[in-house]
Amino acid sequence: MILVFGGNGQLGQELTRLAAARAIPMHALPHGEADIADSNAVAAALARWKPELLVNAAAYTKVDLAETNIEEACKGNELGPGVLAGACAAAGIPMVHVSTDYVFDGSKPTPYRETDPVCPISAYGRSKAAGEAAVRGTLKHHVILRTAWVYSEFGQNFLKTMLRLAETRDELRIVADQHGSPTSAREIAEAILHLAPLLSRDQKLSGTYHFTADGFTTWHGFAGRVVEIAAPMTGRNPRVIPITTADYPTPAKRPVNSRLDCRRFVQTFGFTPRHWTESVDATTRTLVAAAQRVPSHVA
Ligand SMILES: NC(=O)c1ccc[n+]([C@@H]2O[C@H](COP(=O)([O-])OP(=O)(O)OC[C@H]3O[C@@H](n4cnc5c(N)ncnc54)[C@H](OP(=O)(O)O)[C@@H]3O)[C@@H](O)[C@H]2O)c1
Repeated sequence: MILVFGGNGQLGQELTRLAAARAIPMHALPHGEADIADSNAVAAALARWKPELLVNAAAYTKVDLAETNIEEACKGNELGPGVLAGACAAAGIPMVHVSTDYVFDGSKPTPYRETDPVCPISAYGRSKAAGEAAVRGTLKHHVILRTAWVYSEFGQNFLKTMLRLAETRDELRIVADQHGSPTSAREIAEAILHLAPLLSRDQKLSGTYHFTADGFTTWHGFAGRVVEIAAPMTGRNPRVIPITTADYPTPAKRPVNSRLDCRRFVQTFGFTPRHWTESVDATTRTLVAAAQRVPSHVA
């Protein structure tokens, strides 16, 4: 069985949903039931569920707040992963740990490979890079999966924000000079459930991998696609205007290049991600349809 920490997050919920659909034994613990930085809680969870593999979907993901809330970011992104890795080492099981494009500074002109040195430019990125190091230093049998620009039907994310803003605004001004791959949490969950049995059988597959949807765009391109797909269903078609990072200052710096080269993952695990537009289109349609559905007790 697979034990997931961070069960209430975007990825945690998609893992739970997918495992249930595929009848894969899994238990997911929300933050309220287990703080990953609490070694007693983690040890108790492992003793209770006796997993064959652990997935860390927990993280402190508030990128701007992390600049001032360094202690919480450190707990969720550095201390916690270290505690989980230690517990996995003691139990003799592998762990899949999820990390981020924000460990890079974005100055590379081409997509980042796993061998590129990390150089975070935000507190969040530094805490995630430290978490990777904690996992590598504590547990040999692991996969660190770096992904980017995550969205899903659950939680807060850019896609849902665009749908919400499009309801009332005639103009959306969106950053057009940061490049990356919008990646659905569902597809990350698929990738994790695909690699899990392979990693369990073969410790030599351990290491760091990049996994995002295929193809690249900008936040502006991402927003434009969401609006284009939603418009025929909602009748709302705001103009999506490109702006620069300088026009939209945020507490945390973001890399201008968040593109990850995923060839190593594809070649090692034989799992090819879909083009980013496929999942963005599907999620947009699902969310708009759900919002428009008349509750059955009203009909
Ligand atoms: N979101 C993105 O755009 C993005 C991009 C690149 C990489 N990633 C990585 O992808 C992974 C999954 O992200 P996500 O989007 O699913 O994040 P998410 O929706 O923010 O979920 C993270 C979950 O972790 C929980 N959590 C935070 N601190 C914890 C702690 N100390 N102990 C236990 N649980 C804790 C949170 O609970 P509370 O809300 O109750 O605190 C939340 O339910 C993370 O490793 C993240 O760094 C995300």
